[in-house]
Amino acid sequence: MVQRDHVPRFEVKTKHHAYQNVVQRGILRDFFEFLPATAGKLFVVTTKDVWDLHGSRIQNALDQHDSQILFFPQGEQNKRLSCLEELAEQMVAHGADRTSIVIGFGGGIVTDVSGFLAAIFMRGVPVLQIPTTLLAQVDAAIGGKTGVNLASGKNLIGSFHQPLAVLIDPEVLSTLSDREYRAGLFEVLKCGIIRDAALFELLEDRAPDVLDRNPQVLDQLIAAAVRIKAEVVSTDERETDLRRILNFGHTIGHAIEAVTEYVRFLHGEAVAWGMLCATRLAELLAILNRTEAARIKNTVLRYGPLPVAQDLDPDCLISRLASDKKTLQGKVHFVLPSSIGQVKIVSGIDQSLIRQAIMDSFQ
Ligand SMILES: NC(=O)c1ccc[n+]([C@@H]2O[C@H](COP(=O)([O-])OP(=O)(O)OC[C@H]3O[C@@H](n4cnc5c(N)ncnc54)[C@H](O)[C@@H]3O)[C@@H](O)[C@H]2O)c1
Ligand SMILES: [Zn+2]
Repeated sequence: MVQRDHVPRFEVKTKHHAYQNVVQRGILRDFFEFLPATAGKLFVVTTKDVWDLHGSRIQNALDQHDSQILFFPQGEQNKRLSCLEELAEQMVAHGADRTSIVIGFGGGIVTDVSGFLAAIFMRGVPVLQIPTTLLAQVDAAIGGKTGVNLASGKNLIGSFHQPLAVLIDPEVLSTLSDREYRAGLFEVLKCGIIRDAALFELLEDRAPDVLDRNPQVLDQLIAAAVRIKAEVVSTDERETDLRRILNFGHTIGHAIEAVTEYVRFLHGEAVAWGMLCATRLAELLAILNRTEAARIKNTVLRYGPLPVAQDLDPDCLISRLASDKKTLQGKVHFVLPSSIGQVKIVSGIDQSLIRQAIMDSFQ
């Protein structure tokens, strides 16, 4: 394995496994160094758009090894067992065996699907993750959660399968659409609010550079967010306590996505509205002071515009909360900021207060 002392690399350490999340421009050229010496055939799972834009970054290394590119049709509607089965059939047709390795090369959909494919193919083969959206680089590819959707709900089938490594090259983000980029920034902002005041301040103070994708600022943001996700999932792989703080903004965010049937909002945009609601709720409960609440609100809005949410019925959103996958035994938990960089988990909040927080945030 390569060691580069000056390169931000963050270890995820779970009970059974430890691996590196490396943030470095140009790292994809060296992806081979992160594979075990015993690696058999490589199966790159990707989408056509990502392959056309960035395939050349890994092509040379792939040419030196037995490898096969498998294309996955992009879009959340294809993140289904039937597509996974199709990929598995293609692997068999191309001679896969237990020494084969899956490489996920794409956004969060691709990293979720390729991770799950690797988790269950011949009862498990290794996966190397190469995320290419900001959201996948700071969130989806890290932590070993993999899965696909059911008709009845998102991510309802899946498995924990930790990767060999996660290789994060901020260069690939140059081709990401502005909207997808900003949606990913909301997850970075979330990391600042829950655990890192300096990261929050960077987003608060340097918005023009952040939005311009200034390499120095962008690399710093990604490294900070990756460090936080890696720390949190290392302490708590299976989402019992600490991992729940990553759900800041997601309680109402998931409800917003569900009532609009996943078409109006990108995930990060729904989370942005969810963060505004949770921040207002914290203020109403006197957990968070007014000045810090205003700073959070202004910074979220700075990375907009967000698709409108004003027409959504607060009661519809509230009734959705109980059916969220993260709701345990009917109890809705909210992750609420107590100051910038710190959060608390609170349950049993009065519905009328939740309704007010939603209405105030949507104004
Ligand atoms: N496993 C986890 O812990 C976890 C966490 C968060 C989200 N997720 C999952 O991630 C998925 C969303 O991921 P996403 O936001 O990355 O969406 P996505 O995978 O759909 O990617 C967004 C779009 O950008 C394109 N794209 C990817 N890289 C690009 C690049 N470098 N340049 C130009 N275009 C590029 C994709 O082809 C796609 O059209 C959801 O399915 C969600 O459930 C999983
Ligand atoms: Zn999220």
